[in-house]
Amino acid sequence: MTKEKIEEIARRRGFFWQSSEIYGGLSGFYDYAHLGTLMKRKWENLWRDFFLNLSDDFFEIDTVNVMPENVFLASGHLKSFVDPIVKCKKCKNMERADHIIEENLKENFEGLTPKELDDLIKKHNIKCPKCNGELEEVGILNMMFPLDVGFDTKAYLRPETAQGVYVNFRREFESLRKRLPFGLAIIGKAYRNEISPRNLLMRMREFTQAELQIFFDPEKIEDHEKFHEVSKYPLRLFPVEERKHNKIVELTCDEAVKRLHLPKFYVYHLAKVQQFYLDLIKIPKELFRFRQLSDEEKAFYNKYHWDMELYMENLGGFKEIGGVHYRTDNDLKGHENISKQDMIVFVDGRKFIPHVLELSFGVDRNVYALMELFYKEEKDRSLFTFPRILSPYDCAIFPLVNKDNIPEKSAEVKKLLHDMKFSIFFDDSGSIGRRYRRMDEIGVPCCVTVDHKTLEDDTVTLRDRDSMKQVRVKIKDLRGSLYKFLQGEEIEKLGQAVTKSEE
Ligand code: ATP
Ligand code: GLY
Repeated sequence: MTKEKIEEIARRRGFFWQSSEIYGGLSGFYDYAHLGTLMKRKWENLWRDFFLNLSDDFFEIDTVNVMPENVFLASGHLKSFVDPIVKCKKCKNMERADHIIEENLKENFEGLTPKELDDLIKKHNIKCPKCNGELEEVGILNMMFPLDVGFDTKAYLRPETAQGVYVNFRREFESLRKRLPFGLAIIGKAYRNEISPRNLLMRMREFTQAELQIFFDPEKIEDHEKFHEVSKYPLRLFPVEERKHNKIVELTCDEAVKRLHLPKFYVYHLAKVQQFYLDLIKIPKELFRFRQLSDEEKAFYNKYHWDMELYMENLGGFKEIGGVHYRTDNDLKGHENISKQDMIVFVDGRKFIPHVLELSFGVDRNVYALMELFYKEEKDRSLFTFPRILSPYDCAIFPLVNKDNIPEKSAEVKKLLHDMKFSIFFDDSGSIGRRYRRMDEIGVPCCVTVDHKTLEDDTVTLRDRDSMKQVRVKIKDLRGSLYKFLQGEEIEKLGQAVTKSEE
């Protein structure tokens, strides 16, 4: 399926579309429609549930998007958060220099200096992708959006949620148990003036990040109290050394520590991130890898930097959806210098500035990936086989006909499930076959139908989206059965099979 097809489906069915469309839209800005909003929220809640539960000392906060200039002087973003750009001499179109070289040479050139990119453009005679005109010399552009607050105060829209945590670290640490490791998460908006926004939700100018900053004692980086739980767990790694052979290697966490000289504290969190994708979301493992960034490619604040990547055929291969960043004390130290506020903690009889391990996820890139990876076309239908726990709705409810007390019974079933906080789509229009197809198309994992037999024996049918098999379930057992189904139970185990002639 092509990117254009995803866009068409997203618009037609109500996942997302370009923002301010009635005015022609603004490049790099998308609005989530009703289905996309539900899925994004489910992804965020799953993320919260998984990552905040890694420790009793992890918490979520919610901070503002506009921050004063000094924050970004301290963090280094004013100086270093820049992209290489190149302008067409003829049509004045601007592009990211590394991106147009990548498109031409089919290789990643992130991290090269403007001079190196310039040399490549000349050597390969790369021209403007819009008009084929000559390109100017490669320059740089800061990616933050500047703002004036009041009349005379300079501020920026935050380019990452992380800074919201760092400026609140001191207060949160004091108001909690003053122990490390200590985690603060934010799920919120980030803004970047991307030169060439593209690939729908993958590169936008306003987007959502889910980031967890874990503060820890740098002297304890060689261990993690739960490392033994993951020591034999195989990680899918694409280290710098193997990148030239284009080879993904599987190393257990123990082996990754020994062979790649990575600290256990870092590797433990790689394992947790991979488990989130493979075990919880059930992404096929061949589609997932961690890509190690070279020294030239790493973000300016990172000592260790591996990105999570998913294989997206439409976009031409593995694409970044997040990163595991060892940011050292870069940020807290920077804030201490500029704000003159002490960031030193006193833990285990020592005074030091905590170091930070950051788990950073792009929420929109994850939502996009679900749509790309789980779209399927079959002979008579197209469907999204989304993971059951991430589908826009948990379940649909259909009255077979709109008479004979069936609507009233259906309303009862709906209330029963709604009271247990299941998300429900209720549909009483059109033939039952069409109603099933409509739910398949938006990826609802199962449908409950109330029919004449329900009135006799208090059972309903439960239909599985993927196999299209149906079972009859007693209404009194329905909540438990639906819960089990969403957790992954096979439909056959949940009730009496319905034969084709009974459907
Ligand atoms: P890229 O190399 O693709 O520009 P990045 O390395 O600059 O991304 P980070 O700065 O590491 O990205 O940001 C953390 C995460 O935030 C990314 O992994 C991605 O999921 C998300 N993200 C970053 N920029 C964008 C964007 N423009 N649109 C959507 N999501 C983004
Ligand atoms: N907070 C990490 C990033 O946005 O790159």
